[in-house]
Amino acid sequence: MKIITFSAIKGGVGKTTLTFNFGEWLSAKGNNVLLIDSDHQCSLTQTYDIYTTEGTIASIFDKSGEAKIIELHKNLSLIPASMDLDSVNNELQTKPNKELLMYMWVADHYNKLKEFDYIIIDTHPDFSTITQNMIAISDFVFSPIEPSEYGFISKTTLELRLKQLKDEVINVQTRESFVTAELKFIGNRIKSNTKSSKEFVEKMMEDSKTIAMIPEREVVNKSTLDHEPLVEMEGETGLSKSNKEFLSKIDKVFEKMSK
Ligand SMILES: Nc1ncnc2c1ncn2[C@@H]1O[C@H](COP(=O)(O)OP(=O)(O)OP(=O)(O)O)[C@@H](O)[C@H]1O
Ligand SMILES: [Mg+2]
Repeated sequence: MKIITFSAIKGGVGKTTLTFNFGEWLSAKGNNVLLIDSDHQCSLTQTYDIYTTEGTIASIFDKSGEAKIIELHKNLSLIPASMDLDSVNNELQTKPNKELLMYMWVADHYNKLKEFDYIIIDTHPDFSTITQNMIAISDFVFSPIEPSEYGFISKTTLELRLKQLKDEVINVQTRESFVTAELKFIGNRIKSNTKSSKEFVEKMMEDSKTIAMIPEREVVNKSTLDHEPLVEMEGETGLSKSNKEFLSKIDKVFEKMSK
């Protein structure tokens, strides 16, 4: 099983879009996938028209009940988010082992969770305790970066914060960190043929942690608006040549991200 958290300090960079589309892609390729929405904006949860207040991810933190794994379709399930996750996050601050509550929940539910080939997690644009909990259970953190000055600043900030978290959340006896996630960057929303986007791509490629580059395309925006994953559009008739090319490029990008 592989656990991947999409995280970025900056908002609107494509975390939810990529969680949704990469998760659906993995599932379409025959993997059993669990999506977890840990953002109190609940965007991913609402993509599936789920508006529940019970059995959400919040119950793992406030012990108000059991988190429910909702089956969305064959090979795809979701633990929904709660609008209360931000206040739950505030209440965690005085709790012991506050970054490892998700870690303990995974250990307690491993028998059920081991049915999944991938767990893909969406987060709020922050480095809150809830987000840290998601990172602590992950093998990888995938961070989408947009071509802007602020995009690069948030890239550096995330690297620093992750390092701090690794240094702090340790087993006091062995001094080994509980946080082992590898950070990977994904350039997203790259406009074609502008000088600044070329510079952005060059700068991103200098970093060995960069694993993918995704262009800015209306069809991506459409997929979130219509709640229709890109992998489902591939089979549609009447697609323009450029959309066909884009979808086959995305296929390769997701293939690489799944490795
Ligand atoms: N490659 C792309 N091309 C075109 N539009 C994109 C692309 N990636 C993301 N978008 C659009 O950008 C908007 C923001 O994306 P998304 O909601 O996934 O960001 P986010 O990082 O989850 O935001 P937040 O931090 O608020 O949760 C959405 O409307 C989405 O459709
Ligand atoms: Mg989002």
